[in-house]
Amino acid sequence: MFRAARLLKLRGPLSQSRILLPVPMPAFSMGRAMSHEPSESGFFKSHSRKEVVVVTGASSGIGNKVVERFAQEECYEVLAIARNKTALEKLAASNKRIIPISADLTDEHALKKISHHFNSGKKAKYVINCAASADPFSPLTTVSRSALRMNVELNVLAPIFLLQHLLPYFLADTRFLFLGSDYTDTKKTFHPNLAGTYAISKTALRTVVEYLRAETKHRPLIGYLNPGATLTPMYNSFIHKMAEQGESAQDWNPVDPDHVAIFIKSVLEHTSPQLYSETDWNFEDKQHRDKSGYDVSTSVQPEVKLSAVMIRNI
Ligand SMILES: NC(=O)c1ccc[n+]([C@@H]2O[C@H](COP(=O)([O-])OP(=O)(O)OC[C@H]3O[C@@H](n4cnc5c(N)ncnc54)[C@H](OP(=O)(O)O)[C@@H]3O)[C@@H](O)[C@H]2O)c1
Repeated sequence: MFRAARLLKLRGPLSQSRILLPVPMPAFSMGRAMSHEPSESGFFKSHSRKEVVVVTGASSGIGNKVVERFAQEECYEVLAIARNKTALEKLAASNKRIIPISADLTDEHALKKISHHFNSGKKAKYVINCAASADPFSPLTTVSRSALRMNVELNVLAPIFLLQHLLPYFLADTRFLFLGSDYTDTKKTFHPNLAGTYAISKTALRTVVEYLRAETKHRPLIGYLNPGATLTPMYNSFIHKMAEQGESAQDWNPVDPDHVAIFIKSVLEHTSPQLYSETDWNFEDKQHRDKSGYDVSTSVQPEVKLSAVMIRNI
């Protein structure tokens, strides 16, 4: 999740290095979906239909901003999934294209509830799995079996079964996106006594992605994206737990979750099928941002002095 200081310099949210020029729209831009169905007279007619975007982890952080970003466009209908009903209702009140679904993703019945939405013949265009937890922040020497199991249920198993439940409702070109973390590489990011459980589940998820890529035969197209340190409740939990252990996080530089949401949307909409599924997307990597067509100037929200916020949190 957190990067080395030398990398952070490239990622300062207010630095020029992150203000990217708009790039021409690549050939794979997905506009309003057009379906072609035979009319009664035997001729083909075209009509527009809303694309369904499924976002988990919609009540906070990155998922919340991804929902808002997709819902800004007329052509999308966004299923916003999380447990916190109040947060989802607030989100849905801001935009009629957002459909809140309160569901615990570790619960099989909840997954059925999500797939019910597609009974009317709708199809999912994008599925973005943002739901995850870093709890418990405990050493592996003392963590309880139930707490570790809960984490793996949510971070590893839930997206597998979400995919299984939604599979009948995928289009030929549906894209499913998994969110990764720097914790999959212990040489890069390593916090014993604190992040063992999260690192285990995120590393397992990385393997899930490889297997699904081989097994699904491109339906859905499987994507993997590491947002890097992003100012969200999960990030703040890490900061607090590290501070409790006397670790400094002064040189971390989290980005605005809205910028990550713009990147996610660009990767899903503007990359070729091959580029999408063969790249391990990393917001930290300028080349990746450029390749996706990421353009931070589309941000409608004011820049936040993230470093200041972070230091207050410590
Ligand atoms: N923030 C970072 O610095 C960072 C860095 C690298 C990777 N990531 C990854 O990015 C993704 C989003 O993280 P974030 O920072 O935005 O986290 P966050 O703000 O803590 O959001 C986590 C989301 O997961 C949902 N959730 C938790 N348990 C759930 C359950 N049992 N069923 C359904 N939903 C559940 C939460 O909603 P409810 O509590 O309402 O259910 C919440 O909406 C995660 O995959 C994370 O690993 C984050």
